[in-house]
Amino acid sequence: MRTIIKNASELVTCKGGVKYGKAMSDVGIIKDGALVIEDDKIIAVGTTEEILAKYDNGDDMVINAAGKTVMPGFVDSHTHFIFGGYRADEFSWRLKGDSYMSIMERGGGIASTMKATRAASFDELYSEGEKRLNRMLSYGVTTVEGKSGYGLDKDTELRMLRVMKKLNENHAVDIVPTFLGPHATPPEYKGRDMDFLKFNLEEVMPEVKAENLAEFADIFTEKGVFSIEDSTYYLEEAKKLGFKLKVHADEMYDLGGALMATRVGCTSADHLLMASDESIEALSKSKTMATLLPATAFSLGAEYARGRKMIDMGAAVAIASDYNPGSCHTCSIPLIIAISCIYMHLTIEEAITALTINGAAACGRDSLVGSLEAGKKADILILEKPSINFLPYCTAMNIVESVIKDGTLVKG
Ligand code: NIG
Ligand code: FE
Repeated sequence: MRTIIKNASELVTCKGGVKYGKAMSDVGIIKDGALVIEDDKIIAVGTTEEILAKYDNGDDMVINAAGKTVMPGFVDSHTHFIFGGYRADEFSWRLKGDSYMSIMERGGGIASTMKATRAASFDELYSEGEKRLNRMLSYGVTTVEGKSGYGLDKDTELRMLRVMKKLNENHAVDIVPTFLGPHATPPEYKGRDMDFLKFNLEEVMPEVKAENLAEFADIFTEKGVFSIEDSTYYLEEAKKLGFKLKVHADEMYDLGGALMATRVGCTSADHLLMASDESIEALSKSKTMATLLPATAFSLGAEYARGRKMIDMGAAVAIASDYNPGSCHTCSIPLIIAISCIYMHLTIEEAITALTINGAAACGRDSLVGSLEAGKKADILILEKPSINFLPYCTAMNIVESVIKDGTLVKG
């Protein structure tokens, strides 16, 4: 079965692979663009004239995208979308002046979600996860990274990952799973961080590998959570077990987490609100993706990461939602585009690159998704407006009209 999408006012290809620095502003727009889908893949991209001359045989299904923008599906490369319970009460305390870290120190925060997640059944986690994926899909997310990290024990960590595996099989959105056992030290291991890391490395992660439940290993490197020394040990050992690496780095304090990420060869260093000039320079000379999570800074009322500087220095930047029950309970792509452009001073083109091909690279999917090119998966959005300029202009409003996933219309 072949489908032709034609007459797109702007067809945004994002072609050419992962992009660093200045190159992020090249999103490869074709005016009056068209593309051809065969089964679940894109087989050709060009102007409407070129595509119709070569491929139109009268039998194809044709979608007329006149007055609309066609672009790759968004890749949300950092989320914690599987969890039990909510923390709306903590949000209200923060509005009154409490801080994220002081709530965590009092036994709330991640520990509170840990209790609710341990108590949740597979089916409960699955059905909540499914609803959250539906919402993400409505925003145009076609690939999402999802982390464990609210079990902090073997059974619950494995349950979270098995839920993601089943959702990946059944739901249109593709899921890239990450093991985040060291998200916090659970009460059973209080004061024994290294023992907890060894427990993860020796007792949990071999099983995660054996069942092929996660591609990445992640850790929350933060003052009062895991130190640079312990995180380095964990990441080096996780690499030996065959995991690709990510790190929550320099979110509340500048511990040098981003610098560590470049040294141990992380695929991405995420958050980076407090990253130092030295860290930004190291990132810009490395292949490690700087993954920025502006809705988290927004929700916490914190300073934004220095995205403009990172790109100017030559780093590859991705943006993602960080959707989770605590620091950032939103998966709104329109909101994070608006914040990225207005407050982190990314151009619209850079924000698109950060949410498509660079997001795909941040979760190891850049050879499959993140751009509209022959050979890539047909994960395609049609926006209701004629130009990418409408993405931040329609501030925090969803303008995704149709979503095509693996060649099939799943929204619109
Ligand atoms: O990325 N910073 C650590 N982890 C999450 C928040 C987790 C939570 O508060 O439940 C984050 O912001
Ligand atoms: Fe996170």
